[in-house]
Amino acid sequence: MKVDPVAISSDAAYYWVIAAIAPRPIAWTSTLNEDGSANLAPFSFFTGVTSDPPTCLICVSRHGGTRKKDTWVNIERTGEFVIHVVTDALAPQMNATSRAFPYGVDELVEAGLTKIPSDFVAPPRVAEAPIAMECRLDRIVEVGRSGTAIIIGEILLWHVRDDLLVEGRIDAGRLDAIGRLSGAGYARTRDRFDMPRPK
Ligand SMILES: Cc1cc2nc3c(=O)[nH]c(=O)nc-3n(C[C@H](O)[C@H](O)[C@H](O)COP(=O)(O)O)c2cc1C
Repeated sequence: MKVDPVAISSDAAYYWVIAAIAPRPIAWTSTLNEDGSANLAPFSFFTGVTSDPPTCLICVSRHGGTRKKDTWVNIERTGEFVIHVVTDALAPQMNATSRAFPYGVDELVEAGLTKIPSDFVAPPRVAEAPIAMECRLDRIVEVGRSGTAIIIGEILLWHVRDDLLVEGRIDAGRLDAIGRLSGAGYARTRDRFDMPRPK
C-alpha cells in the first residue's frame, strides 16, 4: 500500500502522521495564563533537539485549525514553560488536561494535581510528575498550511525525583513513562532491552 498525502484530506493525513511516527513521548506542558492561573496540556509532537545547550521542542497546532492553543499563546507572551514526563500512574490526569478548557481555568487544579513553584520560570510545576524540565523559549517557527508552531525551548533545570535514580541515573523501570500511539492508543515502557552500539 502507498499513501500519497496529496490525494487525501488533511484529517486523513493526520492519521498517517501519528500512526507512522509512534510511540511518541508526551510533553505535559504547564504555562501561565494572563490572570496568573496555570494551563496544563499534553503534546506528543515532542522531542529533544540538542544537548548544547539542552534544548527540546513541542509542536502546538490551532483549535479548529484557526485559534492558537492556549499553550502557544502563553509561551508567546511569557517565553516560559515547564515540561513534565507522563507516567502510567498519571495517564488519567494527563488525559483530563487535554480537554479544551476555557482560557483562564486553572487546569492543574481541575485535574486534582498539586502546584509547586518552579525555580527559574514563572509557570508552576506539577508535584506529582517524577521529572519536570523548566524551559525558556528559544524561538517559535510556524509551519504548515493552517499554521502549527514548532516551539523550541532551552532546558534551564531538570527536577528529577530521587527515587528514580540508580547510581545517579534515571532507571526507566522506576520512571514507568508512557508514550502515545494513534487514536486512543498508548504504550508502556515495561518491555525493554539493551543493545550496545557497534564499535
Ligand atoms: C496524548 C496527547 C497528545 C497530544 N499531542 C498534541 C500535539 O502534539 N500537538 C497539539 O497541538 N495537540 C496535541 N494534543 C491535544 C492538546 O492536548 C489539546 O488540544 C489541549 O486542549 C490543548 O490545550 P491548550 O489550549 O490549553 O494549549 C494532544 C492530546 C493528547 C491527549
